[in-house]
Amino acid sequence: MFVRRNCAFLLSSSQRRKTVRTYAHSPDYITRDEILQQASTLQLAPMMDYTDRHFRHLIRLLSKQTLLYTEMVSANAVAHERHSHQTQYRHEHPHASEATVTQNYNVDYIATRFLTQGTAQEGPSVLQLGGSDPDLLYPAARAVSELSQRSEYHCDYTALNLNCGCPSPKVAGKGCFGAALMDDPALVRDLCQALYEGGQQQYPVTVKCRIGTDSKRSWKDDNDEAQYQELCHFIETVAAGGIVQDFTIHARIAVLTKSFSPADNRKIPPLKYHLIQRLVQDYPHLRFTLNGGIESIPQVQDQLSRMPGLRGVMVGRAFCADPWRFSCADALLYNNDTEVPHRWHVLQQYAQYADAQEQLYDATTIRRFLMKAVTGLFAGEPNSKKYRIALDEIAGLPKKGIHTPISELLLEAATKHLSEETLFRSPLESYEFQTQTQNKDLVREWQADRHATL
Ligand SMILES: Cc1cc2nc3c(=O)[nH]c(=O)nc-3n(C[C@H](O)[C@H](O)[C@H](O)COP(=O)(O)O)c2cc1C
Repeated sequence: MFVRRNCAFLLSSSQRRKTVRTYAHSPDYITRDEILQQASTLQLAPMMDYTDRHFRHLIRLLSKQTLLYTEMVSANAVAHERHSHQTQYRHEHPHASEATVTQNYNVDYIATRFLTQGTAQEGPSVLQLGGSDPDLLYPAARAVSELSQRSEYHCDYTALNLNCGCPSPKVAGKGCFGAALMDDPALVRDLCQALYEGGQQQYPVTVKCRIGTDSKRSWKDDNDEAQYQELCHFIETVAAGGIVQDFTIHARIAVLTKSFSPADNRKIPPLKYHLIQRLVQDYPHLRFTLNGGIESIPQVQDQLSRMPGLRGVMVGRAFCADPWRFSCADALLYNNDTEVPHRWHVLQQYAQYADAQEQLYDATTIRRFLMKAVTGLFAGEPNSKKYRIALDEIAGLPKKGIHTPISELLLEAATKHLSEETLFRSPLESYEFQTQTQNKDLVREWQADRHATL
């Protein structure tokens, strides 16, 4: 299925052992790995078109500790851009050394389009890359490491992650990456090695995957034992490379046949948390994060207490549908008492960030994304729909030539449509209020609003 390339950077097993020792003892590695471990309890899932830098900035205002995943970034695209900008620099400076090229090639596009974080304070965050070719994952990871040296671009990720869980035909079809990679664990091991070497051994490499694919068994098959053995084979093969210790597992099988849409793939195959529980017990030297169907802090706590040794819980759709639901995360999951302010203050801080972004980038293109990130902040509150409609209107203003600062418009929309009670309620009061009104199914509403594409 895959053509395995003869990659110059792939090391022999004795060299690899040496690398692993080096990276285990490098102070830089320890720092990043420690950050990763400390932040892992709650993780914002990678979500294409949602967990962009603006949304991550919003979540960071609510929680200093949560581990934030980027949307998946195509390794091929980053590698291609890096190659073409380096080639251009060499062309313009024929006598430049390789070090000079690396330090000076134009990274504006790569940064803006793919890699930059909103600010230097993004905190614990993981860049997810998608790809199936070690020769492209390597330069993509190199670009991340190179950008981290240019402080003006804010590119300081805690770890790199390989997407082995996305069943979208766009991903699993052409080039066979995403969940399709689970059928070739040896390739996944090599891809992780490429990421690690490309990142100049500075970044821990993690894998996000499913409990398996339907290539060997139907998603309806209830032979859990056979499925578990296949999953173990995948985990053992990848971990044997000595690079990956962290696996985040969406507890559903990935159905790769075209009849299943990505949305079907996130709700139809049954969740099998018990397989992750077995992994946690059987591989105590590895770290596992559970993903799929978790919608609240009490549910996160529940999984953590059921599975001693579970490293963390990753949440996707519920975070997008109702981010405020997780505003007590630092206090309740990380024992950190730093107070999160009420939403009016959060919005003020976000508004400042939005102004700064619009000074850096063209408002006609960026405004839509800045607004999208805050649409869910008041989900479920009276008049939240009117507030969302107001945000849509604000998003369109730059194209009409109206250039009122975004901060003014954003705050005005909130005061116009939302009550003081909503704006100034503390996270803890909101949390108690939510636990009393669990019947409001905001996640389902959020998906329905998006025409069942999620
Ligand atoms: C709109 C959308 C986009 C997603 N994009 C990605 C992605 O880029 N990479 C990835 O690994 N998973 C992606 N996922 C899957 C989520 O990371 C997560 O595994 C899945 O939604 C299950 O978690 P949840 O039940 O908490 O939502 C996406 C999911 C959704 C709904």
